[in-house]
Amino acid sequence: MKIAMLGSGFIARFYAESLHAQRRRDHVVMVYSRNEENAKRFASDYGLPHYSTSMEDAIAHPDVDVVLISLPNHLHEAAVHACVKAKKHVICTKPLGRTAAEAKRMLDAVEQAGIFGGYLEDLCYTPKFLKSMESVKRGDIGRVLWAKSRETHPGPHSDWFWDKEKSGGGAIIDLGCHCVEISRNFIGKNIKPIEVMCWADTQVHPIDAEDHAIGLVKYTNGAIGQFEVSWTFRGGMDLRDEVMGTEGTIWVNSFLRTGFEMFTTGKGDDGYVAEKAESNTGWLFPVGDEAHELGYPHMFTDMFNAIEENRDPLETFYDGYVVNAILDAAFKSAETKTWEPIVLEDWRGDDPEDNQKHWESYDVDHYLIKKEILPNGDITLILKHKTSGKVSQKVTRAE
Ligand SMILES: NC(=O)c1ccc[n+]([C@@H]2O[C@H](COP(=O)([O-])OP(=O)(O)OC[C@H]3O[C@@H](n4cnc5c(N)ncnc54)[C@H](O)[C@@H]3O)[C@@H](O)[C@H]2O)c1
Repeated sequence: MKIAMLGSGFIARFYAESLHAQRRRDHVVMVYSRNEENAKRFASDYGLPHYSTSMEDAIAHPDVDVVLISLPNHLHEAAVHACVKAKKHVICTKPLGRTAAEAKRMLDAVEQAGIFGGYLEDLCYTPKFLKSMESVKRGDIGRVLWAKSRETHPGPHSDWFWDKEKSGGGAIIDLGCHCVEISRNFIGKNIKPIEVMCWADTQVHPIDAEDHAIGLVKYTNGAIGQFEVSWTFRGGMDLRDEVMGTEGTIWVNSFLRTGFEMFTTGKGDDGYVAEKAESNTGWLFPVGDEAHELGYPHMFTDMFNAIEENRDPLETFYDGYVVNAILDAAFKSAETKTWEPIVLEDWRGDDPEDNQKHWESYDVDHYLIKKEILPNGDITLILKHKTSGKVSQKVTRAE
């Protein structure tokens, strides 16, 4: 694939490093930046044949197969419409929109134009996440009951993130989009998310948006998603997921303390340790191959294979829209302090009626509540009668 990069900032560089790493075949051939110096520098750093200060020219360039949007949140929609106009495939960084309405317009425009729309949710492509999902899909942990995802760090690196008008919100939109989609994958994308309860506050920074939030997302099958997001966390970037199922548990730590710990007095050159690391002396938690741990190579492979195979990628514009709808409800709940419904005018998953709770039977008359081996070796079975509701226990004595 020949790629036009829109934007030349933090994520554009991360993406370009991933795309040009090792001996990968897909290359950025064009960069758009409104500032010519930045465009030139980016093109020179990554050996690109073209650069432009016109977004439309960059997209329309005949060498370009696919456009990669790496611009601030308030520019995603205009960039998507420009791709639609030029009939170029588009892949867009997270969050898709600042609101579900914005995301829906992008989704509709791409689908009506018949072009590819990939949602770059990298944290749903980390090697640990992909392996966890294989286990969940095989049924290794049974029915998922609770999926919690946390992303916290000391706050973003550019002014526009802190400006609610441009970003669409604070930690909820910036980090919550990752966490919500991680939980949604674990619980099942076909299961409808219905309501959100969210606490949010501005605890530390003098901004209009929230810098800390915790939310619960309820699904029709009774599962609960939980997101914990913050721009107030000190000590680096904490990315952790916990999944609880009827038959098992998964704990994933994707960034801090992943098995690589190092101490330095700081005698060497001041260097980069890892994204959002706050220190480069003392005990450090570097990350071996950061782009890989964050999912970028797997994400681009899926996106480009999907374009070639004329199929959907794992993360589509539709997923981006659902995430925005959940976050819209989270913002509302933080204000009203009550459960708020998730408004999904376009729902493509299962009928909510098909996803009811079901209990495990012990025999025709009883449900099994619990089985446990006691310290003396006895086995207790706790049962509930299906019609009377009476709870009883059956003990098998150890020989
Ligand atoms: N893990 C991830 O997937 C991840 C990580 C970081 C950022 N992002 C997303 O990437 C996007 C960009 O974030 P970033 O961290 O690269 O930001 P950044 O501020 O580092 O870079 C933004 C780029 O857009 C340019 N820009 C800013 N305002 C512009 C305007 N009005 N017109 C044209 N260009 C303009 C800037 O010059 C810069 O090149 C955001 O949507 C953000 O949420 C995703």
